[in-house]
Amino acid sequence: MLTIGFPGAADSSVHVLVVLAGPDGVLSSAAAAADTASGGQLARAIKTGRFEADAAAVAEILAPNGIDAARLLVVGTGPADKADAATFERIGGAIAARLLTSGETRVTVDMAGAAASIPLAAAAAHLANGAALRSYRFDKYRTTMKPKAKPTLTHLDIINADGAAASHAPLAAIAGGIERTRNLVSEPANIIYPESFVDSAADLAALGIEITVLGEPEMEALGMGALLGVSQGSVRPARLMAMRWNGTGNPDARPVVFVGKGVTFDTGGISIKPAAGMEDMKWDMGGAGAVTGAMHALAARKANAHVIGVVGLVENMPDGNAQRPGDVVTSMNGQTIEVINTDAEGRLVLCDAIWWAQEQYNPEVVVDLATLTGAIIVSLGHEYGGIFANDDGLATQLQAAGDSTGERLWRMPLGDAYDKLIDSAIADIKNVGPREGGSITAAQFIKRFVKAGVKWAHLDIAGMVWDSKAGPLHDKGATGYGVRLLDRFIADNFEA
Ligand code: BES
Ligand code: MN
Ligand code: ZN
Repeated sequence: MLTIGFPGAADSSVHVLVVLAGPDGVLSSAAAAADTASGGQLARAIKTGRFEADAAAVAEILAPNGIDAARLLVVGTGPADKADAATFERIGGAIAARLLTSGETRVTVDMAGAAASIPLAAAAAHLANGAALRSYRFDKYRTTMKPKAKPTLTHLDIINADGAAASHAPLAAIAGGIERTRNLVSEPANIIYPESFVDSAADLAALGIEITVLGEPEMEALGMGALLGVSQGSVRPARLMAMRWNGTGNPDARPVVFVGKGVTFDTGGISIKPAAGMEDMKWDMGGAGAVTGAMHALAARKANAHVIGVVGLVENMPDGNAQRPGDVVTSMNGQTIEVINTDAEGRLVLCDAIWWAQEQYNPEVVVDLATLTGAIIVSLGHEYGGIFANDDGLATQLQAAGDSTGERLWRMPLGDAYDKLIDSAIADIKNVGPREGGSITAAQFIKRFVKAGVKWAHLDIAGMVWDSKAGPLHDKGATGYGVRLLDRFIADNFEA
């Protein structure tokens, strides 16, 4: 990601200068100054480029006259009353997308006189954050990239926005968490598997996170037959990891627990998936990735809350030792589960992880995140994650956090009629219902492992963790979905 700076004045060798403009020819004072210095070049470019200053629209002038810069960019803010945090993030994203492989290495954004519906310092901070998020790439395995395709932009400086550095600090902490999530999600399954996922989290200790790891003997002793059954066909041993951040100063504060599905590769097991697209199942640990990134974000900005992230890490493989369709396994809380389809493995991992987390931490709230069902993508596409909850207040809090971060959630139903569909003929519960309502019966399965009195929400994020095309704040690939959502949920509801 970009290095962000807030210097007192523009670098003497500004490579790219960015100024802002609103609709109807309303230039910021920085833009007006650039127009004057360039002898009206900026105004002419706006006119010829049919630039109407829509939010994040860009007009570019190469080799401007009278300005010590190789390029001058005018970026639209849209109407001033709508130029909020999200708008400035998109503006930053558009700047980064435009310049990332332009050959330029540094860009300076002059905020002087920009119109915004939020304080200029906050606008600048969000602009910088949007640029940082949009500039993330995962190129580490590309050894033969043509020089022209390689990113060149490394620095973004913002000038004339007093106090922006302080506003940016917490956003940078969260961006660090998002970067961690994207790295975890992008790595292939021969690199990120349960043990290496745990290893990758070791540096969270430096942020003040306390890490606990359970291996297979410990999980065996605790009776986690559901999670271990999924892992049984893999040569990679399973792990359960808990990451604890207590920023309250009170060791007895009742925590919020996040639980993530961490299937580091999902072949489907003996109920094997078709070959086409199976490579996508390297990101079947997206829930665990989001939880880990959120813990990073909370600790890095020293959130005043007690939060524990638990991730159930397994690889789902077919093998002579793999579990079979029809096998009956016993979960940690003693429920027997008939495994009808070994590809419905996420719920088997989550049920033991969630039960363990409740026993271990006595949480007030449990939120699980999982790339749980293809059916949620059929329902909601890639615009909303699905939220299932046993508590309306909790659902409202999470949906509000989703609306304000742009990581949106759509409420889905739960109910006894759905619950009946997963009764087994030979055990307490079976791991799949009929094809219809597949995301709902998956949620009902998890609900049977939530203790009475615990507020619980399940986020099915199968459609959100990976994007086949670039968006305003991400390139194609891993989105980092969930980090901002969880961070905001904590900030708005649990920090005094
Ligand atoms: N990891 C998949 C769900 C998934 C599918 C995520 C596509 C992202 C994209 C999950 O483990 C799975 O295989 N679910 C099955 C459940 C079925 C067997 C009841 C599914 O959705 O087909
Ligand atoms: Mn599966
Ligand atoms: Zn899966």
